[in-house]
Amino acid sequence: MFKPLQVLDEKNKILRNKAEDVVFPLSNEDLKLIKLMKKHLLYSQLEDKCEQYNLRPGMGLAFPQLGILKKIIVIVYEKNEGNFEEYVIINPHIISHSVEQIAAFEGEGCLSVSREVEGHVLRYARISVAGFNEQGKPLEIRARDELAIAMQHEIDHLNGILFFDKIDPNKPYFTEDEIRLI
Ligand code: NI
Repeated sequence: MFKPLQVLDEKNKILRNKAEDVVFPLSNEDLKLIKLMKKHLLYSQLEDKCEQYNLRPGMGLAFPQLGILKKIIVIVYEKNEGNFEEYVIINPHIISHSVEQIAAFEGEGCLSVSREVEGHVLRYARISVAGFNEQGKPLEIRARDELAIAMQHEIDHLNGILFFDKIDPNKPYFTEDEIRLI
């Protein structure tokens, strides 16, 4: 039995709060929720499940989107066709990043934002993120391009930031000459 998660809408003020550091060990409730988030994100990227459960496709979720102000992010990334990688990062922070900036060519989306938002969101092309896994073991992940964008997007959620906050209304779009569009 799969029951889709209820994701808070952008209008909900909870999304604008800062999340708190997580103390280990995680509660069973949190562990259960992480499992559900992985499943929801995976199903949302599988054509048949996506249709069956009427899901919006998404590759990442942060705890605040479920109304819980804890620093936990979950990403399910389709590395290549049908091959998914799962990332759970607790208390994540970016420890280093490239000078190069990129943007998703078609703009970003968010499971909390159910409208089309025009414009490019500037992101670092490469980042190193430090944090902890579900067992409280320190981890460090290097990410580039699409995965790096997803991690920056989810970490922003922990700081009450939504992707469209970063679109400059005076210059919503960039050209290939200015930054690399992926
Ligand atoms: Ni989002």
